[in-house]
Amino acid sequence: MIEVRGLTKRYEGRTILDGISAQFGRDEVVALVGPSGGGKSTLLRCLNGLETFDAGTVQVGEHHLSPGGAKARGKEIWSIRQRVGFVFQQWHLFSHRTALGNVIEAPMHVKRQSLREATERGRELLAKVGLSNREEAYPSELSGGEQQRVAIARALAMNPEVLLMDEPTSALDPERVGALITLLARLRTEGLSMVVVTHEMRFAHALASRVLVLHGGRIIEEGPPGEVLARPQHERTRAFLGLTPSGVATASKSPPPAGESPPG
Ligand SMILES: Nc1ncnc2c1ncn2[C@@H]1O[C@H](COP(=O)(O)OP(=O)(O)OP(=O)(O)O)[C@@H](O)[C@H]1O
Ligand SMILES: [Mg+2]
Repeated sequence: MIEVRGLTKRYEGRTILDGISAQFGRDEVVALVGPSGGGKSTLLRCLNGLETFDAGTVQVGEHHLSPGGAKARGKEIWSIRQRVGFVFQQWHLFSHRTALGNVIEAPMHVKRQSLREATERGRELLAKVGLSNREEAYPSELSGGEQQRVAIARALAMNPEVLLMDEPTSALDPERVGALITLLARLRTEGLSMVVVTHEMRFAHALASRVLVLHGGRIIEEGPPGEVLARPQHERTRAFLGLTPSGVATASKSPPPAGESPPG
């Protein structure tokens, strides 16, 4: 449902995405992993028009993004964002709105739903993410994990076919990571496709149907998590995962190991 072809992005003469071609299908959960600076966030942001690019195409259903400025892309971006939701790493909730207020904002203003319709659906979504008792709380009154679940409910309120998430576990303690895996696994069984940037290999193992390893703006390896994360073929992937060239973990804690650098 999302297809990128020859996607190329440069910043100040540096090539950040180097002709990436990939497909993200319906009913797939794809994990983007790899060393820091490899281009994961940039690729993710290109998928729903948050980032411009220099060459190639992004196609979402019948909608296309091509290189160029916002003006040329405005209408297509609008259509694409109806289908592709984004959960930001820092959630970006509206601080002056309650949890429910955050969730009903876009359905009312973009989808033109009535207050009643949006509220009904918003309550359902907050219940789905385990926050039915916190509808009236403001973001400052919610924990990090709760704010993130509001952000997920807010993205789901637009009924996206695909949800993009950049490092959703970076601000969560291990228990909350487990709870997030449970929530996203349930959404996956309900038919939501996802593309998730993560440094957390446990998360990729538990959720992804496919893993793409990005390094230097290229996909150097891809496949099911059981293969890519346990028996990587590419030397750079082995190094990233903390495995020796022979595929044996260097540390006593064998896979899933931590990434090579903190999220940034
Ligand atoms: N606005 C920008 N201007 C210049 N260079 C940028 C900009 N945004 C990103 N870059 C560079 O592009 C490269 C890829 O960045 P990106 O954020 O996509 O990496 P990443 O794989 O998500 O890394 P991390 O795992 O640390 O989040 C990096 O070298 C980064 O410095
Ligand atoms: Mg990143």
